[in-house]
Amino acid sequence: MTENALRKKNRFMEWIDKRYPWTEFWKKHLSEYYAPRNFNFWYFFGSFSLLVFVMQILTGIWLVMEYTPTGSESFASVQHIMREVRYGWLLRFMHTTGASAFFVVVYLHMYRGLIYGSYQKPRELVWLIGMVIYFALLIEAFTGYVLPWGQMSYWGAAVITSFASAIPSIGDFLLVWLRGDFNVSGVTLHRFFSLHVIAIPFFLAILVFVHLVALHKVGSNNPDGIDIKEKKDKNGVPLDGIPFHPYYTVKDLVGVVVFLFVFSLVVFFTPTLGGLFIEPNNSVMANPMLTPPEISPVWYMTPFYAMLRAIPNKFLGLITMAAAIAIMFVLPWLDRSPVRSIRYKGMWSKIAIVVFVISFMSLGYLGHEPVSVLRTFLARIFTIAYFGFFLLMPFYTRIEKTKPLPERVTG
Ligand code: HEM
Repeated sequence: MTENALRKKNRFMEWIDKRYPWTEFWKKHLSEYYAPRNFNFWYFFGSFSLLVFVMQILTGIWLVMEYTPTGSESFASVQHIMREVRYGWLLRFMHTTGASAFFVVVYLHMYRGLIYGSYQKPRELVWLIGMVIYFALLIEAFTGYVLPWGQMSYWGAAVITSFASAIPSIGDFLLVWLRGDFNVSGVTLHRFFSLHVIAIPFFLAILVFVHLVALHKVGSNNPDGIDIKEKKDKNGVPLDGIPFHPYYTVKDLVGVVVFLFVFSLVVFFTPTLGGLFIEPNNSVMANPMLTPPEISPVWYMTPFYAMLRAIPNKFLGLITMAAAIAIMFVLPWLDRSPVRSIRYKGMWSKIAIVVFVISFMSLGYLGHEPVSVLRTFLARIFTIAYFGFFLLMPFYTRIEKTKPLPERVTG
């Protein structure tokens, strides 16, 4: 930049700063936000979540330009997008792949929080807001899945809304209230469209903002789980901290390139991912008179669906499924360990995490497969193991022997 251009830029920024705290914001949240210097690849997934969120909003805006949210025209309008709108197929596949990618990155982001104890004091609110985001994301994905009005959209909506009827006394009223009709119909589709396109994304955007404000108030955790704010230089800068910008913005950019490469492979070469991202039955228009032989939700909801099916009583199944999500909210108060990171926790915590991961993934698999006696039995075992991980946490984290924490971050 020439000296003249630099002077002009400074004058312009001065003008802005007198009216809007732009430089102050930039310094506080980027160039002078000191993040621990030992972030590893697990720390990519927050930025990836942000990227996918923006991608979903952008592709969604363009899809809505050609989509019609009515029972009679919805299915045809999606076919129109796929076949007649220029690059419509690309927009749609980016959006469907984006939905699954969102859950891939958010699950990995949550797992990172789990292994490094990022939910522990003082980051309880960061975790809690994250959990509200996760719950809102599940509803966002469910309402979106109904919109193409294929067989799976219709019957998925029928099964999931029917859960409401299992609630004693108010169930039947609630069911009609949710659907807006006595059956899943065009009315249901229209209200899900409104929620999917306006209400939930708006709510999510606010939540993501609040999530990051909460994080920047307390500062980021790191793979060692130790506080970098305790050791500062004479200027008050943490000795183990580096400015988020440019160090992590550039590092995240490298991660984004790799992520987009893998994302493109799916979009261009295998957008349905063998029926996992888009189920084959959803290419058939919704038919209220014909129930498909197998109805299962998309992969990111199948662990909870497996729990529901494992319990013989519908109401208790519903309670179990709700409890499986609710228990994650109280995680910060279940962990009594004096250390945060799995690196310094004892053997019981390590075994518990392995059991938890195996249970969650197995439940995901079982929820996707047709019911059988063996599968139901296994789903019950893994459901018990899933809850065991959380419910026994106050005990095993207190009695186990932890490793001594290092003075400064390692690596
Ligand atoms: C739209 C979804 C989400 C977005 C865009 C998002 C974004 C971010 C970003 C950018 C960071 C800072 C970078 C990083 O630490 O990776 C972060 C940190 C964090 N997020 Fe999220 N997040 C989302 C969902 C969630 C969920 C569902 C949870 C957990 C229930 C969660 C829990 C956390 C925690 C505990 C941290 C602090 C991690 C640490 O300092 O070690 N987030 N998030």
